[in-house]
Amino acid sequence: MSQKPEDFFKNVISHCKEYGYIFPSSEIYDGLSAVYDYGQYGAELKKNIREYWWRAMVQMHENIVGIDAAIFMHPTTWKASGHVDAFNDPLIDNKDSKKRYRADVLIEEHVVKIEDKINKEVEKAAKRFENFDEAMFRSTNARVKEYQDKIDSINNRFKNAMDKGDLAEVKQIIVDCEIVCPISGSRNWTDVRQFNLMFSTSMGSVAEEGNTIYLRPETAQGIFVNFLNVQKTGRMKIPFGIAQTGKAFRNEIVARQFIFRMREFEQMEMQFFVRPGTEMEWYEYWKKARLKWHQSLGLGNEKYKYHDHLKLAHYANAACDIEFAFPFGFKELEGIHSRTDFDLKQHEQFSGKKLQYFDPELNQNYVPYVVETSVGLDRLFLAILSAGLKEEELEGGDKRTVLNLPPALAPIKAAILPLVKKDGLPELAEKIMKELMFDHIVTYDEKDTVGRRYRRQDAIGTPYCITVDHDSLNDNSVTIRERDTMKQERVKISELARILDEKVSLKSLLKQL
Ligand code: GAP
Repeated sequence: MSQKPEDFFKNVISHCKEYGYIFPSSEIYDGLSAVYDYGQYGAELKKNIREYWWRAMVQMHENIVGIDAAIFMHPTTWKASGHVDAFNDPLIDNKDSKKRYRADVLIEEHVVKIEDKINKEVEKAAKRFENFDEAMFRSTNARVKEYQDKIDSINNRFKNAMDKGDLAEVKQIIVDCEIVCPISGSRNWTDVRQFNLMFSTSMGSVAEEGNTIYLRPETAQGIFVNFLNVQKTGRMKIPFGIAQTGKAFRNEIVARQFIFRMREFEQMEMQFFVRPGTEMEWYEYWKKARLKWHQSLGLGNEKYKYHDHLKLAHYANAACDIEFAFPFGFKELEGIHSRTDFDLKQHEQFSGKKLQYFDPELNQNYVPYVVETSVGLDRLFLAILSAGLKEEELEGGDKRTVLNLPPALAPIKAAILPLVKKDGLPELAEKIMKELMFDHIVTYDEKDTVGRRYRRQDAIGTPYCITVDHDSLNDNSVTIRERDTMKQERVKISELARILDEKVSLKSLLKQL
């Protein structure tokens, strides 16, 4: 069913709330901006996604191991990594609405509006194609060129200003472009300031300057500082990887789009340590491997694309994003970065400790190069949920809402439904449930008609419903209904565990890699 993307996105958000996937944090106090809680089904789906990533990385690669570093780290970590000095966004306030914006986002949105004008000109021209004369062609061309020149000029000015750290010029661009605050409609702007995205707190009982520590803004640094610990104790030989999942915190100025950009979120990162000079080979390897991992979820290969970074961070010699077609357009889902030896060298310098590897084949010590894969668990969750949510028209004019989650990731793998609440059917259904629950999360439901119960499980995303009817008492068989096709099949109760295992285990996904 076609729906405007913004309406569809609203549906995704309300579906998450209505079916126990995601709630606003501390909702009874009106919520906390850009912070969310995962409900009973959300927590399961999130855990399953994390588990699939972990198994694909750690279990399926002999040379990758996983760690779980603390969120708090020695403050010098963040000096060495560059986050204290450079993990900033340029912000600007509107004095009338008191709203705060990212200056770069205001400028980007202004550029998008000019791009829209170009698109409209082109659309208009295409409609008038039949009687499009020379004069029309010239005037359309002139207008498109004028808009394009404007865009180029703004982009160049902005890039130069940021490269030089000239925040007065960034403000001047906003003034010159006559950008207004969407709330107050005024152009009454403060100066642009750099705003560090790290959250800080103090450790111990005395809140002195020296006690300031940060909530980690990425999990990667916990891996770098443990590089030698893991390499030595695990007798790891290069190339090898260290994986980690965990919370990260960023005081995002513009936090919106639901769980796409949050202030507290979870990352799944892997740092792959390689011999210097081989990093581009490994970078290409991980680019392909990570795309394949995403594609194995079956959300549709057309929903992914690479976005290679043209402008690289000072420590990277190659970087790309895997973008996903979210309801609000293609946006970054995962980053793959060739980070050179920057991080380890910085930590060597700031800690005074050697972070080197002795390569027995070369008979030489060196600081390894690193290829990083970094994906946001919450973004992945949003990708899976928004690709799966569908309104379907059924035969006879009926409709259903169905959540086509990959079966191996679904929170509930099967619902056991007695046809009626009597005649011994609930007892048999419960017996089946108790047997299956050793291996999978399953649920029992006897309330409402069986049709309604199917609809509820469809909306939750449960891939299989197992219905126990009067015949089951005699033939020891049940009906198993598949969520996506709604096809029903009669199977022996004794076969259920095997069938379910085949269809919903992570192994089915891992085998595609
Ligand atoms: N260690 C590299 C690193 O942190 P990043 O591109 O800043 O790189 C990696 O973040 C991934 O983390 C992103 O691709 C995104 O999926 C996720 N992410 C970043 N900021 C986020 C936020 N505020 N909310 C949710 N996910 C976020």
